[in-house]
Amino acid sequence: MSPLAPALTINTTFTNAVVRAVPARRIQREDIPVARRSSPPPRPSRGGGFGLFLACLLVCGGSVAAVLFGPELLARLNQESPTTISGLEISGLEQRPDADGRLLGHFPYAEVISAQLMVIEPGIELHQDAGIAFDSMRQAAAADGVDLRLLSGYRSHQLQESIFFDVASARNQTAQERALVSAPPGYSEHSTGFALDLGDGDSPETNLSEDFEQTRAFRWLQDHAARYHFILSFPEGNPQGVSYEPWHWRFEGSADALRLFESARRLALRPS
Ligand code: DAL
Ligand code: ZN
Repeated sequence: MSPLAPALTINTTFTNAVVRAVPARRIQREDIPVARRSSPPPRPSRGGGFGLFLACLLVCGGSVAAVLFGPELLARLNQESPTTISGLEISGLEQRPDADGRLLGHFPYAEVISAQLMVIEPGIELHQDAGIAFDSMRQAAAADGVDLRLLSGYRSHQLQESIFFDVASARNQTAQERALVSAPPGYSEHSTGFALDLGDGDSPETNLSEDFEQTRAFRWLQDHAARYHFILSFPEGNPQGVSYEPWHWRFEGSADALRLFESARRLALRPS
C-alpha cells in the first residue's frame, strides 16, 4: 500500500452531481395560472400531527446518519476521484503540511502519468514537453562547445521515498536536515517529469555539487536556459529554504507546467 495518504482532495464528480440535481429555480405550482392546473388544489391534511412526527423522525435520523457515516462516505468519494494534491501527510514523518500545502519547505506535486513521459537517456525519463525542450537546449549548448549532461529526470513517489528516507537513515539525518537537500515523497518537482538535474560532461567531478556553478555548462545555462523555458528552481537564498542547487532546473514552457509551479513561482516573486 502506498505510504501517501491524501488528506485533502476535492471531488468534482460528487459536486457536479449535486449541482445537476438542483435546478437554479424550480417551477412552483404558483408559477402556473390557476386555469392551467391539471389537479385540484390540495385539501387540508387530516393527519397533521403524524406528518409532523414523521418529519422530525426523518430530520433527526438524517442528522445521526450524517454524523456516523458522513466522514467515511466523504473519504470514499475522495478516494474515487481525487483532483488535487494539497496537504499530503507522509507516514513516517511527524511534520504536517503548512497552510499553503508545503511540507518542510517543499510544495506537493502529483506524479506525471506515464503516457506523458519520454525516455531521454537510458534510465532517464522526462515529461515529453520538457524532453523536447531539453533536446533542443542540449543541441544548442553542444553547438557552443558545452557538453550538457542529463543526470536525473522523472522520479516516482516510490523512488523519492527511498531517496528521502533511506539516505536520511544511512546518513543519520533528521527529516529537517534531509529536506534541505531532498524533497519528501509527494513533494519533489522531479515527480512531475518537468524537473531535471544537469551536469557538465567536461567536469563530472562537479556533478550534484555547488561547484557545478563554476562550470561552463552552468554559465551557459544562466545565459540561455530561459530561452528554452527552463528556470533554476533553488537559487541561493530561495524562500523555500532549500539548499542552493545550481544543477536542478525545471521546465515552465507549457500551460500544465506553469500551473503546476504557480505556487513556487509566486513565492519566489513575493517581496521579502
Ligand atoms: N533535490 C530536490 C529538492 C528534490 O529532491 O526534489
Ligand atoms: Zn533535482
